[in-house]
Amino acid sequence: MLRFTLLKAYYMVIKTALIVLFSAAILIPSGKIFSQCQSPQKGTQKDLTLFDTKIGHIISEMSLEEKIYMLHGNGLFSSAGIKRLGIPEMKYTDGPFGIREEMEKNSWNSMKLTTDSATFFPTGSALAATWNTDLAYLLGTALGEEARTRGKDILLGPAVNITRIPTGGRTFEYMSEDPLLNARLAVGYIKGVQDRGVAACVKHFALNNQETNRVRVNVIVDERTMREIYLSAFEAAVKEANVFAVMAAYNKIGGSWCSENENLLNQILKKEWGFKGLVVSDWGGTHSSVKSAQGGLDVEMGSSGNAFMGQALLDSVKAGIVAIGVINEKVRRILRVRFSVEPVSESKPAGIVATPEHGEIAYRVASQSIVLLKNTDHLLPVDLNKVRKIAVIGDNAIHKMASGGFGAGVKTRYEITPLEGLKNKIGDRASIKFVQGYKPSFSQNQQLGGRRMLNKQIDSTLLKEAVELARKSDIVFIFAGTNREYETESTDRSDLKLPYGQDELISAVAAVNPRTVVVLVAASPLDLNNALNCSSAMLMSWFNGSEGGNAIADVLLGNVNPSGKLPFTFPASLADSPAFSLGTFPGDNNVEYKEGSLVGYRWFDTKKVKPLFPFGFGISYTEFSYNGLKTDKIKYSSDEIINISMELKNTGKRDGDEVVQLYVHRLNSQVEWPEKELKGFIRVSLKAGESKSVTMTLPISQLRYWDTKIHDWRLEGGAIQIMIGSSSSDIRVVKSIDI
Ligand code: BGC
Repeated sequence: MLRFTLLKAYYMVIKTALIVLFSAAILIPSGKIFSQCQSPQKGTQKDLTLFDTKIGHIISEMSLEEKIYMLHGNGLFSSAGIKRLGIPEMKYTDGPFGIREEMEKNSWNSMKLTTDSATFFPTGSALAATWNTDLAYLLGTALGEEARTRGKDILLGPAVNITRIPTGGRTFEYMSEDPLLNARLAVGYIKGVQDRGVAACVKHFALNNQETNRVRVNVIVDERTMREIYLSAFEAAVKEANVFAVMAAYNKIGGSWCSENENLLNQILKKEWGFKGLVVSDWGGTHSSVKSAQGGLDVEMGSSGNAFMGQALLDSVKAGIVAIGVINEKVRRILRVRFSVEPVSESKPAGIVATPEHGEIAYRVASQSIVLLKNTDHLLPVDLNKVRKIAVIGDNAIHKMASGGFGAGVKTRYEITPLEGLKNKIGDRASIKFVQGYKPSFSQNQQLGGRRMLNKQIDSTLLKEAVELARKSDIVFIFAGTNREYETESTDRSDLKLPYGQDELISAVAAVNPRTVVVLVAASPLDLNNALNCSSAMLMSWFNGSEGGNAIADVLLGNVNPSGKLPFTFPASLADSPAFSLGTFPGDNNVEYKEGSLVGYRWFDTKKVKPLFPFGFGISYTEFSYNGLKTDKIKYSSDEIINISMELKNTGKRDGDEVVQLYVHRLNSQVEWPEKELKGFIRVSLKAGESKSVTMTLPISQLRYWDTKIHDWRLEGGAIQIMIGSSSSDIRVVKSIDI
């Protein structure tokens, strides 16, 4: 017995020594391989395939089990590395408007840490309203820095789905109704994130344009519309910004889930566009093992317990149903990203996440995003020499927007509300009195299975209080709009109305004080017919980040001249907007995009339907004149670039920025086109009285359409009009050229 025990002990010692030696033999060289792969290059020029040879060696050292282990989440926001080979796990974070708080590894429960606060950046529609690609880049750098400080490798943003319906629940996270505006901002944002050593993950690929039935709806769309409208920003993200990751959407396209869609993932994204990074599923958006693996998904996320791309996939490979080459390719893509993003050491002390510099970037975005919609008799900016008593009315003056509702939020380090912003900026120069005016509330309807129902009734006590305050004030600011509970992931709004009885409040207040300014704090189109009629001035602010309150106060007081432009059309009535007009929303199992490419202003212009506010609209405290539009030639061939110039003059008395918008209109075309399409834009700063020559370029290649006969881009020759203006409905100068 003793002999056996001794023998067993001897055997164990030898075995352990062998294991240690064997592992060290692999660990040391592989560890080296890993560290040698850290590229000195930074950011967007980084070639993801740079380490493919070494990655090939690593793959050849891995067991099938290890490979499969990397293809699914090993926590809600992490996917596995391989310790034995010194490959760290991959850590993900939402995105897109701030680094999300830490959750328990396998649940959505907050870890209740005190070290995971971050900057709340203006959300997608706010960024889009700046029409400022440099700011998108800066915002990306700040997000990248905060993600790294929090030890994250992949930031789940930007979110670039087109605003197809004005009631979309995620309109606040998305950008605009125009593919070019989305593409330009996405490219800036992604370059910024990736220049700070974090992978961006553009989402949701593709056609996730509604929350209603999002996890089962099948989108039916024609090929041309898909290419020209819905895929455009993703294509730019891949080709121009070299985005490292793409998130497959929840829905189906043409009958196939996006997370296993051969045409979308393998053919278009990987083959045609040359995407070299990894495709991750949306959380819980995977539906199969074999089809997903073969259809182009690389990492399955958000599945609890049995992952499709776990044991079941392993079995499928062993049974010879899925080729090992398919698995190797996925590991290669994951390792490419892993090697291009330096892992943050676990032992690295947490740095400061939300820095003052990031607050400054949040402020710049917020202050350039605010859109002035109306300003009768120059009521704004407020002249504090004349105004002594200011009434601030409305829950949105004190409502914080960093979190709420379903989906990603930010545990913000701080958030300045509009009321705080006004107090900060006005100090004791005027008296500010606040009343809530309306209550944002829902009630549970027991008859409807406890469904949350919006309380539409105004609280009569709050209304009375507001009217009394308005009556004895020199000016009234009503902070109206929505909030994060009302605009939320997973639910679309049922209409465009201002919730909680706010229209009644606005009418009653304006009836006693004509100097009523309505400030909308919301992130999507609203029915503003009543507010427009009643108010003397109206502004659109957004879910505008940590500095939103300071920014809106600066605009109201004239420290900042408003320069934001609407990133989507505000219809006069919901029924006017394309999907509602054609009855193609929400669909059921299928939704057919019958409007084709006539999304947003493309529809309103082509069908000659007057919106309440057009795409690109936004006025200023000053005025701008547009003159002398010139092109360098009058006839161009397919490989040329149109060089455009014109004179922009600030004809008013205040310095200001104007977003100059370039549209094209086709003359005598044989192909069907929308009335006009945005093809360029530029933000220009001008001092009062100053003129500048504004130049823009338009490559002829950008005028091509997707020809469904040849399944490729094609240029149609003929005459086009170059139209430059201040909004899609306010074209100031026009010139025709020939192609
Ligand atoms: C959303 C994604 C998000 C993911 C992780 C999903 O519900 O659609 O945008 O990144 O959850 O939070």
